[in-house]
Amino acid sequence: MTTRRIGSPLAHLLDSADLLVTCGPGGVGKTTTAAALGLAAARAGRRVVVVTIDPAKRLADALGIDAAGSNQPHLVAGAVTGPGSFSALMLDAEKTFDQLIRDRAGDAAQTILDNSVYRSIAGSLAGAQEYMAIERLHQLHHSGDYDLVVIDTPPSRHAIDVLEAPDRLVSFLSNPVYRALTIPSRSFAKVTNAASSAFLWTVKRLAGPKIVEDTIEFFRSISGLEAGLRTRAAEMSALLRADHTAFVLVSSPRAEAIDEASYLATALHDGGFRLGGVVVNLVHPLPPALHLDDDTLDGITGPLAEQIAYHRELTALAEGERAELESLIALAGDAPVCEVPLLDHDVHDVDALIELGGVLVD
Ligand SMILES: Nc1ncnc2c1ncn2[C@@H]1O[C@H](COP(=O)(O)OP(=O)(O)OP(=O)(O)O)[C@@H](O)[C@H]1O
Ligand SMILES: [Mg+2]
Repeated sequence: MTTRRIGSPLAHLLDSADLLVTCGPGGVGKTTTAAALGLAAARAGRRVVVVTIDPAKRLADALGIDAAGSNQPHLVAGAVTGPGSFSALMLDAEKTFDQLIRDRAGDAAQTILDNSVYRSIAGSLAGAQEYMAIERLHQLHHSGDYDLVVIDTPPSRHAIDVLEAPDRLVSFLSNPVYRALTIPSRSFAKVTNAASSAFLWTVKRLAGPKIVEDTIEFFRSISGLEAGLRTRAAEMSALLRADHTAFVLVSSPRAEAIDEASYLATALHDGGFRLGGVVVNLVHPLPPALHLDDDTLDGITGPLAEQIAYHRELTALAEGERAELESLIALAGDAPVCEVPLLDHDVHDVDALIELGGVLVD
């Protein structure tokens, strides 16, 4: 029963969603799918921005987004002729973090931005990239400039990290060490008083006084941000679960990818996120049937026998992939599942994205 849905188009999703998040295991085509879906929606008349994360260099060049990662949307010239528009950007986690500080920290913003401790953690904090991907999505969604924001997700060892990023920020803010360092009243006084202690005097001698002062200053200045960060994390958590937000789960037909994608499908469901569609990318097409019985085929000799052996190998591979996929298709529930063949070329330019978009939509 389930296989009938394979090949179902994602066109409805491109028409109705405000936010699409492509997610899935590493290397299966998340970035490519995000770009192809975004371009297809733009060509159907919507104003689209695609946020890519670490795109392959040639794809970035084709989209014109490798110019030192400005973190700003860039209109992709010549991609769309109708009323729609197609913009792309490469996520810069550090610049997004800076923008968040500017939006939230008021007068303290510049002090934080100039702080050496802040500078060394912005962008490299565990989970910062995942969090900033969602933050950037939130900023673009609320800019009013786009009908559809498509966001790619980073290759996470645990793909689930992206979904949990806002909640993880809240638990970081609740962490006892963080709290001890930032509670402005008595505990904070302890930290600042401790700055003159023998221990910190030694640290100052070894690491330089600036780093100690900057550490204390950093925690003191971000304590004023806490309420704002919590609010933003809650907003993002809600945005990821909103009616017009959908996740597009991308997988390949390889067993390990299917395992990871299945885990993610379950996590989406359990977390209250909407699975809008599944893209099974890099699938080997099923060769046409030969309509000859095995005895006849076995009796064939010469060069044709080699061709037949190759045909059998490909058929076995393609059938094996389809058997592996059954469990993932079952997990997709009502979401359409779209099969995308392994093309004989990379998808690194606008024409190839249009070709891929055609497979995903038609
Ligand atoms: N259907 C396809 N046929 C052939 N090549 C493809 C197809 N889809 C994607 N590719 C190629 O596969 C490579 C990996 O794709 P992509 O970068 O989109 O994967 P990803 O899931 O974003 O990887 P990562 O987890 O590293 O971010 C790219 O070179 C891309 O051009
Ligand atoms: Mg990618």
